[in-house]
Amino acid sequence: MILVTGATGNVGGAAVRRLCAMGEDVRALVRSPERADLPAETDLVRGDLSDPSSVEAAMHGVDGVFLVWPLMEAEPVLPVLEAVRPHAERIAYLSASGVDPAAEEQGDPVTGVHARVERAIAASGLHWTLVRGGGFAANDLGWAGQVRGGGSVVRTPFPDARRAVVHEDDLADVAIRALTSDGHAGKAYTVTGPEMLSETERVRILGEAIGRPLKTERQGLDEARAGLAAAGLPPEATEAILAAHADFAAPGHTEELHTAEEVTGLPPRSYRQWAADHADDFR
Ligand SMILES: NC(=O)c1ccc[n+]([C@@H]2O[C@H](COP(=O)([O-])OP(=O)(O)OC[C@H]3O[C@@H](n4cnc5c(N)ncnc54)[C@H](OP(=O)(O)O)[C@@H]3O)[C@@H](O)[C@H]2O)c1
Repeated sequence: MILVTGATGNVGGAAVRRLCAMGEDVRALVRSPERADLPAETDLVRGDLSDPSSVEAAMHGVDGVFLVWPLMEAEPVLPVLEAVRPHAERIAYLSASGVDPAAEEQGDPVTGVHARVERAIAASGLHWTLVRGGGFAANDLGWAGQVRGGGSVVRTPFPDARRAVVHEDDLADVAIRALTSDGHAGKAYTVTGPEMLSETERVRILGEAIGRPLKTERQGLDEARAGLAAAGLPPEATEAILAAHADFAAPGHTEELHTAEEVTGLPPRSYRQWAADHADDFR
């Protein structure tokens, strides 16, 4: 039995669906089972990662955990790992490609949390695998509000920012391999998509997926800040995101890797595939 956290989100949800399709026993730790839109065969358990006793209660029969950690603090992971350790042998952790394992301090608060969780997991005694995700293609769902209902323009502060964004199914597949096959303990996999694409190129591909032309328009930084604040992001996270995107727009920025293929034996999914899979979110 594999326990998945963050199971109503992009990557955890993909993992649950893929595990169910493989016929594996899956339990999803969710805060609101009544709202979870997951396959019927999922064992839904109410729980909260900030309440380790709820994790403990979800652990019976579990031998592997896919840990998605959405909390903005790392320290609460320690009692969660304590709850996991007597039961599970393996843990796969969804981390971020921005983590520099050699650095004392990380570049922004989010990678700081991931780095501290990574260290706690490495010290846990569990057989661990780190799945360090590059930029998620799913972040582009943030554009859906501008497109749904006939919009043709996506306003974004860095239309030239180029990333090899990754399909959530590739992150899920790498985590599942780590949890269901041998040879992945102690490994850190940085998982990106297969090709560097600017935001303008991705918006064009999204337009092709939904059958009408879309384009980007450069948004002022103040407007972008206001939008991120309205979405609930704290100011330091907003600034970190904007600074990162300025770097992604710099000439020579590259991040394309083919780790998913090395682990799963399958080529990484293209952005075109992601756009087709999510076209209805933009219609
Ligand atoms: N976006 C990127 O480009 C990127 C890149 C690398 C790594 N990451 C990392 O990926 C993770 C997010 O993954 P995602 O995009 O798949 O998630 P997501 O779609 O943002 O969903 C977050 C999930 O966490 C759950 N959750 C929130 N607070 C919780 C709590 N206290 N206890 C239990 N569950 C809780 C939510 O459940 P509810 O339904 O209850 O709200 C939801 O299932 C973060 O750690 C992020 O730093 C992101």
